[in-house]
Amino acid sequence: MRIIANIFKKNQINIMSKKQFYDFGMVGLGVMGRNFLLNVADHGYSIIGLDTDKEQAQALVEEAEGKPAKATTDMKDFVASLKTPRKIMLLVPAGKVVDIVIDGLLKHLEPNDVIIDGGNSFFEDTERRLEYLKEKKVTFLGVGVSGGAKGARFGPSIMPGGSKQAYNKVKKILEAVSAKVNDEPCVAYMGKGSAGNYVKMVHNGIEYAMMQLLAESYDILKNIGGLNNEELHQAYKKYNRGKLKSFLVEITAEIFTQKDDLGKGMLIDKILDKAKQKGTGKWTSQNAMDFGIPVPTIDAAVTMRGISSLKNERLAASKILKVRSSKPKVDKNKLVKEVGDALFFAFITAYSQGMALLADASKEKGFGLDLEATARIWRGGCIIRAALLEDIRKAFSNDANLPNLMVDNTFAKHLKSNHNSLRSIIKKSIDAGIPTLAFSTSLSYFDAYRDGRLPLNLTQAQRDHFGSHTYERIDKDGIFHTEWE
Ligand code: 6PG
Repeated sequence: MRIIANIFKKNQINIMSKKQFYDFGMVGLGVMGRNFLLNVADHGYSIIGLDTDKEQAQALVEEAEGKPAKATTDMKDFVASLKTPRKIMLLVPAGKVVDIVIDGLLKHLEPNDVIIDGGNSFFEDTERRLEYLKEKKVTFLGVGVSGGAKGARFGPSIMPGGSKQAYNKVKKILEAVSAKVNDEPCVAYMGKGSAGNYVKMVHNGIEYAMMQLLAESYDILKNIGGLNNEELHQAYKKYNRGKLKSFLVEITAEIFTQKDDLGKGMLIDKILDKAKQKGTGKWTSQNAMDFGIPVPTIDAAVTMRGISSLKNERLAASKILKVRSSKPKVDKNKLVKEVGDALFFAFITAYSQGMALLADASKEKGFGLDLEATARIWRGGCIIRAALLEDIRKAFSNDANLPNLMVDNTFAKHLKSNHNSLRSIIKKSIDAGIPTLAFSTSLSYFDAYRDGRLPLNLTQAQRDHFGSHTYERIDKDGIFHTEWE
């Protein structure tokens, strides 16, 4: 805490010093914070930014040229320059830094000022901060912001949660800067407490699942279908023109056209196959486990990032664990069609898992989430935006208590007409020795969920056999125990 306070003192340099009161402030002028703030300025609000780094502050001033904007490295000046009640957003790295900045601000803030944390904060941290700030009479919002740097600049999807009173103070600004779909802003009050961060966490869980499914589809098309980068580009471009239309499919198509600046060939072939992670996907899996809600495709995605990071072990094992596999002969066009259908099926299961988790978390944590509104604000601006989300919105509009998206009529039809393609590509991948953890778990999730009699009667029998844990029967009410022979 002290270290940051000292940095602020040393750098008390105002880039613009004319006294004026500003509508909206941002702490953290990295690319996300700067872009979000410039977006606010585009909508007619005066803006002020604070960063300990003079260069970042200077960059804001340059990029905001001609707009009512100021940047400073002095926290006291920053707070004093804002109109009251102050509206201050934080786009700083999640974790300790958020607490340090909040404590710094608290020295200067007044009751009813609003702090908006826009980072990927862990929802339990938001709950703690809400309690802490309540004591100080400063209102707080934990807000998920999705869309990357471009989204922040030109229209992100925004998921605010926490104090409704605070939301009402910033509603107009957030609606103005958010992405729009059919003129509807991609922002809505998500709910009480840490609802905003929780929804963003699950958004990222779904993001992980979709990215892993896309990686597996790439593996199949490349290594079974033999598609080269140009053909891969064409395949994903075609997908993006149909039912798979989505941001992630669109950028996947683009990626295959990127030449390598540092050598010959295409960039995709030079990128190390070790996927990093900041934690939001893992949090989704962990929290789903805590609530007992299955999200196997998200779990698979987190697991595959873990396996990918064992690069050296994998290289060694590739020599030791050589087995014969048979690459099936395929018709390229037919394979592209099958993989597209399989992706569509699996994307639906990923959204289904995420929505089921949100429904349960809302009950457990009293968020009061509206799943229709969640799907609505995910239709634009965010990383998982997809044409499919309009149907998801409709499904929850028809039935707000839908137990699982898969049983909505439209989605049931989609699943029934695409599952054979998924089965077919999984079979081919098994023969070829290609891992399809996310595709396979998506299919098993569907098969298990629609199975009226799973074999877990055996699990119950075993539990009772070795530990007298008891079981229930299908033909009689009550709890039973057997003295097993
Ligand atoms: C978004 C993204 C964003 C971030 C991811 C990356 O919605 O704009 O999700 O929040 O890019 O969190 O996460 P990993 O580093 O864990 O892949």
